[in-house]
Parts: sequence; C-alpha cells; structure tokens
Amino acid sequence: MELRPVRWWDIEELTGIEAVLFGVDAWTAETFWGELAGIPATRWYRAAVEGEEIVGYVGLAAIEGTGDVQTIAVRHDHQGTGLGGVLLGELLTQAQNAGCSEVLLEVRADNTAAIALYRRRDFVQIAERPQYYQDGVAALIMRREMSG
Ligand SMILES: CC(C)(COP(=O)(O)OP(=O)(O)OC[C@H]1O[C@@H](n2cnc3c(N)ncnc32)[C@H](O)[C@@H]1OP(=O)(O)O)[C@@H](O)C(=O)NCCC(=O)NCCS
Repeated sequence: MELRPVRWWDIEELTGIEAVLFGVDAWTAETFWGELAGIPATRWYRAAVEGEEIVGYVGLAAIEGTGDVQTIAVRHDHQGTGLGGVLLGELLTQAQNAGCSEVLLEVRADNTAAIALYRRRDFVQIAERPQYYQDGVAALIMRREMSG
C-alpha cells in the first residue's frame, strides 16, 4: 500500500468510487477538478494505492489556520482494515504542518463508522444541521483542536 498525491488523471477512477460510496451526494468530476486546482495553495490530496488501483483517498482544505476535511473515503473491499484511520492521521499531520489551529468536518448523522473514526481521533460535535443532505438526513459538524 502506497500513499501518493492525487493527480488529475485519477479523477475518473475517483468519481467511480464516489458513486458507489456516496450515491446522490457523490462528487462530480467538476468538483474534483476544482479541488485539485487548489493544490498546493489551499488543498492537499492523497490516494492510497494498491497495485494500480486507488483503494482510498483523503482531501484537506487549509485556509487561514482552519482545516476542513473535504473528503475521506475507503473502497468497500478495504473498509474496516484501518485505512480510514491512516488517511485521517496523514490529514491531521498535514493540517499541523500547514499551521492549522483547528480542523472541521461535516458528517451524516447516520454514518456510524465515520463518526466512530472521528471521535477516536478527538473530533467533538459542535453543531448539527437538520435535513442537510438530499435525503433529509442531518449533518453533524465536528471539530478537532490542533496543539501548537
Ligand atoms: C468512514 C471510512 C472512511 C472509514 O474507513 P475504514 O478504513 O473503514 O475505517 P477503519 O478501518 O480505519 O476504522 C475506523 C474506526 O471505525 C470503526 N468502524 C469501521 N466500520 C464500522 C462500522 N461499520 N460501524 C461502526 N464502526 C465502524 C472501526 O471499528 C474503527 O474504530 P476502532 O479503531 O476504534 O475500532 C469508510 O467507512 C468509508 O469510506 N465510508 C464511506 C465514505 C464515508 O462515509 N466517508 C466519510 C464521509 S464524512
């Protein structure tokens, strides 16, 4: 398993994974193009690669001391193996290096696997947005303070 920067030629593979994992909330190719255009000024993206295939990825926005988890995803056949934890750990290291004093994220209130992962990494819920997603599920806003 190798962790490497995400490039524009990965976008087709990423949108395929997105469609399976996120359904109606999946990012489009245009969204990925916009995100990757922000590298290195405000964005940082990494893909976990096994052989020739992307099996997980993570993206950070870091602007004026605040980090945002833009996306984190692990392909179904690799979930539950600790990869999500590795990707989030790499993101937090990058946020620290980028001088972030806090990292924020949004997560579906019914996404127990993701919420468990974030809590384990010291994220705390700070707000809830009712009916945030297209199917009416609320979003939880979580925050992690970064030490100096
Ligand atoms: C959320 C996600 C990235 C986690 O990745 P992962 O590689 O499966 O997670 P890990 O194997 O590192 O496990 C992380 C923690 O979640 C827990 N977990 C994993 N699957 C779980 C499940 N189905 N239900 C509850 N907890 C679960 C693990 O027990 C682990 O906690 P622990 O170390 O305290 O035991 C992955 O499930 C995923 O891609 N989901 C679909 C996309 C998504 O929802 N992304 C997040 C959007 S905010």
